[in-house]
Amino acid sequence: MIVKSDKEREGMRAASRVVKAALDAAEKFIKVGVTTLEIDAVVEEVIRSYGATPSSKGFHGYPNASCISVNDVVVHGIPSLLTVKDGDIVSVDITALLNGYQGDAARTFAVGNVSEADRRLIQVAKDAFFAGIEYAKAGCRVGDISSAVQLYTELNGCGVVRDLTGHGIGHKMHEPPEVPNFGKHGTGAPLKAGMCICVEPMITAGGWRVRIERDGWTVKTFDGSRAAHYENTIIINGDGEPPEILTL
Ligand code: MF3
Ligand code: CO
Ligand code: CO
Repeated sequence: MIVKSDKEREGMRAASRVVKAALDAAEKFIKVGVTTLEIDAVVEEVIRSYGATPSSKGFHGYPNASCISVNDVVVHGIPSLLTVKDGDIVSVDITALLNGYQGDAARTFAVGNVSEADRRLIQVAKDAFFAGIEYAKAGCRVGDISSAVQLYTELNGCGVVRDLTGHGIGHKMHEPPEVPNFGKHGTGAPLKAGMCICVEPMITAGGWRVRIERDGWTVKTFDGSRAAHYENTIIINGDGEPPEILTL
């Protein structure tokens, strides 16, 4: 939970811009008939075009530049020859390393004619992020963010995944503190100006339980309901100011 210097914050911003560019390219590229491996190739090309490297590649043996999670896959879907179909929802999660700094962000994209329920699911994940970062301020605690994300998600009839969390970020993809998407207001580590964290609601249209596939990575909803993911890298500001969102 290290407070970043001006120079470090500049590094985080630059890495985050790469991630944002790769997400934008993925969004443009995704359409009916493309494979998730093709999406991953676009992501990797954009990251490398900035002189950055895809942090997920080789991370604990993870094979690709992005995580691409379709429908009931919550996170850590491994790109494959699976083609994207009309009505699918596709979550893309990207981490890039530039000059020693990490940026990390995720979005869920709707493909073609997506049901109203799925559009809403995607929107609730995004809005839960913004509900959470109302408390991403110096003087608040991590649990304030967590409880706000949980409350917003559950009030909107969705499940909030408990097995995976947001996190601090810096020279490493995952640094302290953990930033869960559920918890109690007034608990957890105090937030300080200059801290850099990833807030990332992972939500489902059903229950919160998940299971990991035999590949050791793919996280699916236990009940087969669809899932959405929305993540940004942010910097905590001082003086009760809202955070700076680096990957927007
Ligand atoms: N980007 C993910 C996160 O939000 C982690 C990626 S896991 C990896 O924390 F194995 F794909 F790298
Ligand atoms: Co991520
Ligand atoms: Co993350």
